[in-house]
Amino acid sequence: MSVAVAIATANPGKLKEIRAIFTDSLFELIDASAFPGWVPPPEDSELYLQNAIAKAQSLAVLAGMPAIADDSGIEADALGGRPGVRSARYAGPDASDEENRSLLLDSLEHVPDAERTGRFRCVAVCVTPSGGHAVEEATVEGRIIRTPRGRMGFGYDPIFVPDGFDRTTAEMEPSEKDAISHRGKAFRALLPAMRRLLDR
Ligand code: IMP
Repeated sequence: MSVAVAIATANPGKLKEIRAIFTDSLFELIDASAFPGWVPPPEDSELYLQNAIAKAQSLAVLAGMPAIADDSGIEADALGGRPGVRSARYAGPDASDEENRSLLLDSLEHVPDAERTGRFRCVAVCVTPSGGHAVEEATVEGRIIRTPRGRMGFGYDPIFVPDGFDRTTAEMEPSEKDAISHRGKAFRALLPAMRRLLDR
């Protein structure tokens, strides 16, 4: 029998990717939109882990069932890891993906190609209404290019080329991105940890 788990995200790009990872799993994912009272909590921690747990815990308590969430971001080495945990609001609290990308490109304008290294990081969690939790973290290393390319994915995908590729993650089919991505790796590792947490 499948186990109902709520997804604590309002980001359509993430939702699509997480749903694909859980296809054919034991878990039946329920969108946060099924719980209209859920308001994503402010992401005010400097730690991915705390932000991810805050999102999942708030929905788990409201929904009365386990909830999953991720907190993720892009880290530019030349900027000391920024925007990192602040990736979603790099250009301001209500910034669009395009505004965030433009600010990152402007911040890196004078950085030579060889120093434009960085990574996507994802901390994926499952939290139960009673506060039990499972956590997995993963990264994908790559470089931040100068001109956006590609129409797939979301966020910073058009300016990120993973190591070993010459295409951005926005130029990859969703399954190709998923196989190597920070989110794909973190949630695939979370699946067995969730089975242990939920005793399934
Ligand atoms: P948060 O986890 O809700 O704080 O949002 C993470 C932000 O990081 C997203 O809004 C994107 O801007 C960026 N991000 C995280 N994962 C990805 C990805 O797979 N592709 C592109 N951008 C991403």
